[in-house]
Amino acid sequence: MRVLVIGSGGREHALCWSIAASPLLTKLWCAPGNPGIAAVATCIPIGAMDIAALVAFARDNAIDLVVPGPEAPLVAGIADAMEAAGIPCCGPTQAAAQLEGSKTFTKEICDAAGIPTARWERFEDVAAARAFVRRRGAPLVVKADGLAAGKGVVVALTEDAALAAIDAMMDARIFGESGAAVVIEECLTGDEVSMFALCDGTHAVPLGSAQDHKRVGDGDTGPNTGGMGCYAPTPMFGADLEQAAMDRIIRPTLAEMARRGAPFRGILYAGLMLTADGPKLIEFNARFGDPECQVLLLRLRSDLLPALLAACDGELAHFDLRWHGGAAIGVVMAARGYPDAPERGSEIRGLAAAEAMPGVQVFHAGTVADADGRIRAAGGRVLTVCATGATLPAARDAAYAAVDAIDWPEGFCRRDIGHRALAR
Ligand code: AMP
Ligand code: GLY
Repeated sequence: MRVLVIGSGGREHALCWSIAASPLLTKLWCAPGNPGIAAVATCIPIGAMDIAALVAFARDNAIDLVVPGPEAPLVAGIADAMEAAGIPCCGPTQAAAQLEGSKTFTKEICDAAGIPTARWERFEDVAAARAFVRRRGAPLVVKADGLAAGKGVVVALTEDAALAAIDAMMDARIFGESGAAVVIEECLTGDEVSMFALCDGTHAVPLGSAQDHKRVGDGDTGPNTGGMGCYAPTPMFGADLEQAAMDRIIRPTLAEMARRGAPFRGILYAGLMLTADGPKLIEFNARFGDPECQVLLLRLRSDLLPALLAACDGELAHFDLRWHGGAAIGVVMAARGYPDAPERGSEIRGLAAAEAMPGVQVFHAGTVADADGRIRAAGGRVLTVCATGATLPAARDAAYAAVDAIDWPEGFCRRDIGHRALAR
């Protein structure tokens, strides 16, 4: 099989690493990839959003399967374009990717299918949004309706904070047109977990759950990020809750999407709040999480490639995935200044020493190799340093030992990944 992975982050490195281990694989490409991915795939200099060039490459190179990592090309219709060219693509069509692209769309699906989620209202008018906040009072959650790189959500504990968020999104347009409308939600409380399911339009197979750490600083302080680390499995989300979420959230969503003529194929990511009334949906994403993908794939014992193919072919009904026991953890190393203004260009040393440590896997994200082959920081989140272990504390200790083996003074990480599970 000839496979093309699209993207350049830690998630795509993990996808390539996992697919590269498949005995079914004959050749693997990644567009555009990164220096870590280059160790397991041929990187091609085509951007993830250059859909026409990606389709042409896939056609010219007789690609059997395309695996998009990030949401932006999915929302822009890469799966539709590949399908039109007769190339299997393990990702949702543009219509199905609205589950991530539009918060209103997801809320309407929830209402239509009776899926448990926070009560909500949508506003296109600033004055109406402000009046609603004054009427309801805090806490409330204010969300830009469109894509905002994971940053368009404000959990407002006071009325003033909610009003400020509305002004920033709708008036100042800090997220551009994504703030033309806002969704204002009831604030849910409980443990937060992310669950993932591989979907074929009708059937879904669980890919496990993980708990991300979205704030930049230890103790969940500072601004939100794309995710500073995560671990799996999640002790607060056992088999019974996973079953409940599959039955009450994932499967009804697939049924409703199919009923609307937009069946969802690919990886469905459900952000859940484990409330006193059971799991409730916070949001969907139409892709794997990053860094959740890295950690979940480390625990996958089955071959990923036939599972992705079965998702494309509508053949997941009797598909079973097997998993390793024990725990996995991923610690994101970011460039100083992340998330606001990450510094670029600093050299990262010691990667080989870290990678040689038992149970450790280092996935690259924002890295480049310079003319001398030295690895340098080129983005906000730069590495995901992952480890597996018999227990979560063992995995955590291995991951931080690997972090300490990496010589990169200009980088930083959170030191408390896994704290909610470790404190239990
Ligand atoms: P998102 O970018 O949609 O993942 O949201 C960012 C974070 O906001 C989530 O991870 C939650 O912690 C929080 N959040 C979103 N919606 C709600 C809600 N209705 N109640 C409480 N917290 C929420
Ligand atoms: N780690 C969160 C995300 O991928 O959206």
